[in-house]
Amino acid sequence: MDRSASASIPTSTSSPPYSIPLPSGSGSWLYTTLAVLFTLLALEQSVYRYKKRHLPGAAWTIPVIGKFADSLKPTMEGYMRQWNAGDLSAVSVFNIFIVMASSNEYSRKILNSPTYAEPCLVHAAKQIIFPDNWVFLTGKEHVAYRKALNLLFTRKALSLYFGIQDKVTREHFRNWVSTDGKPRPIMMIARHLNMDTSLRVFCGDHIPAAATQEISDKYWDITRALELVNFPLALPGTKIWRAIRARKVAFKWLVEAAAKSKVHMANGGEPTCMLDGWLQTIQDPEWKGRKEFSDREMAMVIFSFLFASQDAMSSGLIYAFQHLADNPAVLAKVREEQDRVRGDPNNPMTLELFNDMPYLNAVVKESFRVKPPVLMVPYKTTRAFPISDDYTVPANSMVIPSFYNSLQDPEVYSNPQEFDPTRWLDPNGPAQSSPRNYLVFGSGPHRCIGVEYAIMNIALVIAHAVSMWDWEHARTHESDEIEIIATIFPKDGCHMKFTPRAT
Ligand code: HEM
Repeated sequence: MDRSASASIPTSTSSPPYSIPLPSGSGSWLYTTLAVLFTLLALEQSVYRYKKRHLPGAAWTIPVIGKFADSLKPTMEGYMRQWNAGDLSAVSVFNIFIVMASSNEYSRKILNSPTYAEPCLVHAAKQIIFPDNWVFLTGKEHVAYRKALNLLFTRKALSLYFGIQDKVTREHFRNWVSTDGKPRPIMMIARHLNMDTSLRVFCGDHIPAAATQEISDKYWDITRALELVNFPLALPGTKIWRAIRARKVAFKWLVEAAAKSKVHMANGGEPTCMLDGWLQTIQDPEWKGRKEFSDREMAMVIFSFLFASQDAMSSGLIYAFQHLADNPAVLAKVREEQDRVRGDPNNPMTLELFNDMPYLNAVVKESFRVKPPVLMVPYKTTRAFPISDDYTVPANSMVIPSFYNSLQDPEVYSNPQEFDPTRWLDPNGPAQSSPRNYLVFGSGPHRCIGVEYAIMNIALVIAHAVSMWDWEHARTHESDEIEIIATIFPKDGCHMKFTPRAT
């Protein structure tokens, strides 16, 4: 049988007998559409290959969606594959050209090149946390605003926060002890603790207790909407729609708290929280910086802090529990240090005492290193960025510095997978001598502003839990699996049982 006819390309003037009859003119329309589509797809591939040049990464991109499916359900293994492909590698998602940086040198370069690249929050962020929130500022405006906010994290301010953290943690811990003898996942109770602590630190009693619970419950909707990939429109029922509803509730309380704080301070009150301390400083005649912040503006700053507090800090806290429970010898040393320095666990923790606890400090630092809550942060290039001698990232691309490889570098951290706090105790050891590798909190102009606050909070919770309880981690087959939400968590939520300390 001669099949050549069926293989021939039909033309608009001669329809083969087996074709579906088309109204006159629609054949050419179809071929034109197909030709345009084909050209667009070919162009998409050419642009991708032109931008990618010699970088490792798929030679062809999946038409239109690129690696969308992978980014919907990111896995540690998937990221590792990409990072291991090279110090710089390319990928495309929905025609956004992305350069992933895995080495310390390139990751730091991206974070420290504000004239080429700036943070790129997910598309939904502006809808959820307001487009005029300070976190979207860049360049000189960002530097100036951030300078004004540094007063919120001075040593004096941190001392005030420590007292509040201490009190709230003790209140919450009443409900953490196992009453039925069974372990339970600490994922949500740790999140709630962090949210409550932060709301009290930031707003004190200017937010009623019931509202704290309401905000904490609703905030989970906000976290889920800020995942790296999400449906971008706020249609009813979508994650973004739910997050906007949650934000409205939370934001109303924060604006009200700012207004109440102003009244409290104007009446000569003592500072009880971050908002009060902020007002006290800027109202001081000696203060040379900006003196006016509207209620809404103060609420937006607190809102930006809340997001980081409950998400990254919860990841850090849960892994600190898991690491210590799985390493009883380390836990025993933390306990010994607590007993020695603080004595009675009922004694409050202070900033001065904390500075006398090098082992606890090392434990927190090491826990962050082994499981950094934030694996990477997306930046975008504002112009062509000559990142290396032989590669320039095109303008308007995404560049994503990774922190994981820097924190697992065997040259700096021997046996990098091992949880070994002692590596931080030798001031001349490789870990302490290589601060450039410690990218847990980023680097450069956008480096985390809450770093001391976060470290203090996790250390304090751990110190109390070690001093007051015996711990048991019910390991499951998912304890070592990593769930990537916006930050990372043990897939099983970390099942722990706490009982009053026996000895
Ligand atoms: C374990 C907890 C935390 C981790 C691991 C963490 C990590 C990070 C990282 C990686 C960045 C991006 C840095 C960069 O682009 O170079 C960042 C930025 C930021 N963090 Fe944190 N963070 C934590 C807790 C907090 C807390 C508690 C607050 C607030 C009190 C906070 C407030 C912020 C803010 C406002 C930014 C943006 C700074 C800017 O753009 O200037 N973070 N954080």
